Amino acid sequence: MTQRIAVIPGDGIGNEVMPEGLRALEAVAKRFDIDLAFEHFDFACCDYYAKHGKMMPDDWFEQLKDFDAIFYGAVGWPDTVPDHISLWGSLLQFRRQFDQYINLRPCKLLPGIKSPLADRKPGDIDFYVVRENTEGEYSSVGGKMFEGTKREVVIQETVMTRHGTDRVLKFAFDLAQSRPRKKLTSATKSNGIAITMPWWDERVAAMSGNYPEVSVDKFHIDILTANFVMHPDWFDVVVASNLFGDILSDLGPACTGTIGVAPSANINPEGTFPSLFEPVHGSAPDIAGKGIANPIGQIWSGAMMLEHLGHKEAADAIVAAFEAVLTEADPAVLTPDIRGQGTTQTLGQAIAERVAG
Ligand code: NAD
Ligand code: IPM
Ligand code: MN
Repeated sequence: MTQRIAVIPGDGIGNEVMPEGLRALEAVAKRFDIDLAFEHFDFACCDYYAKHGKMMPDDWFEQLKDFDAIFYGAVGWPDTVPDHISLWGSLLQFRRQFDQYINLRPCKLLPGIKSPLADRKPGDIDFYVVRENTEGEYSSVGGKMFEGTKREVVIQETVMTRHGTDRVLKFAFDLAQSRPRKKLTSATKSNGIAITMPWWDERVAAMSGNYPEVSVDKFHIDILTANFVMHPDWFDVVVASNLFGDILSDLGPACTGTIGVAPSANINPEGTFPSLFEPVHGSAPDIAGKGIANPIGQIWSGAMMLEHLGHKEAADAIVAAFEAVLTEADPAVLTPDIRGQGTTQTLGQAIAERVAG
């Protein structure tokens, strides 16, 4: 059975890490005899906007909806297109229209990479951020009044629904239940955000009744960020609203040495629509074009995509391959963010060779 993957490199380093993601996938597909068909798309990036005055063609939904998955690089080029235009015209549309309501973001200290936190070794940091991905603080409800005058008013509402909240909590509790530690931490701010967040806490408490084996704690987001730095070993599964989850899923990987390795899965668990796999990082204009971006975030996202498509063994082979290359720690191979002098390609090639076996 052929599985069809839509490939969208996007902007900046998205174009540099995507070939390495594909190189690993092609190697693993050959080794495990998996039939993947890649189809490349030139939209959902700022170059497309420059040519067409919009981020995507009007029929993007029709073009993509029957794929088995979407493999995305990164999007955003603020010098050309304001970020809220480019992101709301692409990635955030995918998440919402394809109902990818789970954003699953592993955070793991990998072998051979030095954490900026003192004395941390692999095994000490190994948790998931489960981020609500379609509503919350990322809402399109609000507006402006009296624009350009002294009476100017801007309002943006946070939208939390019981349906949207309970489904992400259920996913997070199921994940916690399946892991040895069976621990779930909820990110809240019910002291200051006094309507939505106490309600979020109530939904967590209600859901926990269905999971007697899962131990639950909660922290306000301010001290939670501090605890990510001071006690990353406390965490197993962290569930958070859209914005809190966004912040935590950059901070967590930063504690593991670089955001360049962090992957993400934007999942529509029902499979009604394609799920989307992309690194956590963005287009990195400061290093784009230099060939030094770490490709592991893209490659690991490809592994998450394979697992989602039912190829767990192949996914594990990709993870084992980059862990082996990191363990060897050849500076000529590794990218500068992990103390190497190599390039996106040297690291991508070394991983693909390992994958090939
Ligand atoms: P960013 O993630 O692009 O970069 C932040 C910092 O991390 C930069 O110093 C960058 O060089 C470094 N970095 C990122 N990825 C790296 C990698 N693979 N290897 C080594 N270093 C890496 O975040 P930003 O600068 O806030 O955003 C730049 C653009 O990307 C903006 O347009 C933003 O909206 C967009 N963005 C897109 C996504 C996405 O597509 N999912 C995510 C975040 C930001
Ligand atoms: C991410 C990104 C996006 C988000 C931006 C680019 C809209 O930061 O995927 O983490 O906030 O979700
Ligand atoms: Mn982010």
